[in-house]
Amino acid sequence: MLTNPAEKYRAFALVDLPDRTWPNRTITHPPIWLSTDLRDGNQALIEPMSVEQKLRLFELLVGIGFKEIEVAFPSASETDFRFVRRLIEDNLVPDDVEIQVLTQAREDLICRTFEALSGAKRAIVHVYNATAPVFRRVVFRHDAQSTLALAVKAASLIRNLAAERPETQWRFQYSPEVFSQTELEFARDICNAVLDVWQPTPECKAIINLPATVESATPNLFADQVEWMHRHLADRDSVALSVHNHNDRGCAIAAAELAQMAGADRVEGCLFGNGERTGNVDLVTLALNLYSQGIHPGLDFSCINAVARTVEDCTQLPIHPRHPYVGDLVFTAFSGSHQDAIRKGFAARRPGEVWEMPYLPIDPADLGRSYESVVRVNSQSGKGGIAFLLERDYNLSLPRRLQIEFSQVVQRAMDATGREMTAPMLWDLFEQKFLLASAPFKYISYHWQDDETPACLTTTLAYNEAHLTLEGTGNGPIDAFVHALNLGITVHHYEERAIGHGSNADAIAIVEIAAEWLEGTIHGVGIHSSIVTASLLAILSAVNRGLATLPSEMQRTVVPFSKRQK
Ligand code: KIV
Ligand code: ZN
Repeated sequence: MLTNPAEKYRAFALVDLPDRTWPNRTITHPPIWLSTDLRDGNQALIEPMSVEQKLRLFELLVGIGFKEIEVAFPSASETDFRFVRRLIEDNLVPDDVEIQVLTQAREDLICRTFEALSGAKRAIVHVYNATAPVFRRVVFRHDAQSTLALAVKAASLIRNLAAERPETQWRFQYSPEVFSQTELEFARDICNAVLDVWQPTPECKAIINLPATVESATPNLFADQVEWMHRHLADRDSVALSVHNHNDRGCAIAAAELAQMAGADRVEGCLFGNGERTGNVDLVTLALNLYSQGIHPGLDFSCINAVARTVEDCTQLPIHPRHPYVGDLVFTAFSGSHQDAIRKGFAARRPGEVWEMPYLPIDPADLGRSYESVVRVNSQSGKGGIAFLLERDYNLSLPRRLQIEFSQVVQRAMDATGREMTAPMLWDLFEQKFLLASAPFKYISYHWQDDETPACLTTTLAYNEAHLTLEGTGNGPIDAFVHALNLGITVHHYEERAIGHGSNADAIAIVEIAAEWLEGTIHGVGIHSSIVTASLLAILSAVNRGLATLPSEMQRTVVPFSKRQK
């Protein structure tokens, strides 16, 4: 039994913002992105990355298009310190990229941070201290005043150390850690006090970063907090307002999106949501959410699988198969009705049209993903999925009634194995059931004579290994063949088309026959370079399949030659 939550947990206080504006806004442009994969993401790994792994990930982030990258917490880790040095000394930071490093608001750590950054062309120094009441009271035993004084002292030291190093183009960032649980008035006061030290300008903005260090409330509440800060920050034009969402309630994406509507200019996060506990906000999902609304995020995920494999390699953390946009299964439909809708969507789609595809919010091809796995067939699937795979991979489009008949065959096969069926497996089964249905009748040859009336077809067949020559007359070869067989069948439906491409194209004939000795109707299929032969093969395929449903003694009463044979 869960304990009584009312006795244990407190609901989050509402923000007094009756004239909030964010609910009426939409996002019209991407935020400034900051990747903290190499800092916050790295700090949360079971095994933090080596310098070489960090270099690999740094290159990936630059390639994706990040212009602000938090690369390290150099005063906290020797590896991080060495990594920053390597970036600077080997000149690995492109001119249009700013590296950012984190430090606590402590003199020794700030000095060490500047040591790490020595000789950098551009850098953002990111300083933080915890501001939420529980941290002030329990963790640091500081009152609000000394918490604010600590931030101001750190900000002053940073300003002074930067001034002594004019060879670097500096920017500064302050985070009131656990902003999400901090009284808004106090968060405003401490941020404004820091800004007062830094004196940013619209040309060289300071960054005020509002972390949901622990996500503690619904995203609308976070948006209210951000809008409130957006209105109360001093000299707002000289500030880039940033958010840093963690995903404790699973709402980090929503919170970061609403925060942008509420005034945030910048978002910090990690690829695929790596980060402490439930992770940082997932920058890939945020970016592709924008992309799917027609807004270019300014980040390139056109080879998302390669990005995913590199991140998995560096972090040693697997990406969930249902992770938005990147998971192995996210562009896959197993359910019959979904498959049917997707198949119709692809059939109706014309080049250059706006993307309007049932069940697929984004074109997998835009992410470098193939349509290969869009439809997969298992026991939950229906005829639509089976037809889709055969059409896509074998250029075989089946009439609806044959789809129904074949899907029952597939269903039985899957019930027996409990396994998914791939396109090659479906084709094998189709071949086995329809194209190789060559007993008891096996086609050998035919001769068609239409210079007399009625036109006459002579055919040679094997019936249980014995050769037979039969003759029939009719309006066309199919009609005459049915007459020659003399099995009392009627052809209900006949269809022919090409299968394959160009000079390799064969003809496929599909028939649906009925007979008194058959329950319902049954399909047969034939493939051959000659359309007449394909049609005769199709009829024999249907007859053989029909006879296979009968007990052998009944087969003998249906097939007149069987008596002659004995
Ligand atoms: O989650 C957090 O609060 C942080 C800060 C250091 C910005 O990572
Ligand atoms: Zn964080």
